[in-house]
Amino acid sequence: KMTITIAIDGPAASGKSTIAKQIAKKLNITYIDTGAMYRGVTLAILKRGIEVDNVQEIRNILNNIELDFNFVNGVQHLFLDGQDAEEEIRSIEVSQNVSAVSALDFVREKLVDLQRKMAEKQSVVMDGRDIGTVVLPKADFKFFFIASPEIRAQRRYDENIARGINTQTFEELKQDIIRRDEYDSTREHSPLKQADDAIAVDTGLLSIEENVEYVLSLIQKTN
Ligand code: C5P
Repeated sequence: KMTITIAIDGPAASGKSTIAKQIAKKLNITYIDTGAMYRGVTLAILKRGIEVDNVQEIRNILNNIELDFNFVNGVQHLFLDGQDAEEEIRSIEVSQNVSAVSALDFVREKLVDLQRKMAEKQSVVMDGRDIGTVVLPKADFKFFFIASPEIRAQRRYDENIARGINTQTFEELKQDIIRRDEYDSTREHSPLKQADDAIAVDTGLLSIEENVEYVLSLIQKTN
């Protein structure tokens, strides 16, 4: 087999994207942020003035939404309807509405299909909620990241400050994260869940660099 697939799942702000990006860089393979795709669909819905509980209308417009990943200064950005939306998909409004949209089976069907196609033709590190369980059940390596809600909220808080966004307090962020995890873990279709064959990694115990080295060591050991 010529390609390698690495699946990383876990709750919000568990360090998936930061660690996955660095692993992709070290292995010189593609990083795919599936959360960005659900965020992109959510942003498209909000931009069109559609309520996230208007299932019929979402069904009607889903195929008119154009999602792409393009590289900007070497970093993968999500493009929505031809425009760079990497910043906008991280807004509070999108974060608060994305779980309702990602719970819709027909939305998942479309995005999972896209995700599988991306992993077919190249080696990937893909992160999300259902990568090891549903999208790539035969992934070569599966990891499930965990960390306490406090640590995760602190990370997101620090990230926001670094990006010049400080409209939410630590406590508000923590509550949003807990609510989103609850919603994502209890939904009917592809809930957030550790695959039986995934390795659990508590990312709160080590620094980012140490987590990257640790995960890489597990990949290299068994590769
Ligand atoms: O990873 P991120 O926090 O950006 O994901 C945003 C949301 O997208 C999650 O809270 C979840 O509702 C949804 N999602 C999903 N399945 C994935 C990735 C993300 O349902 N594979």
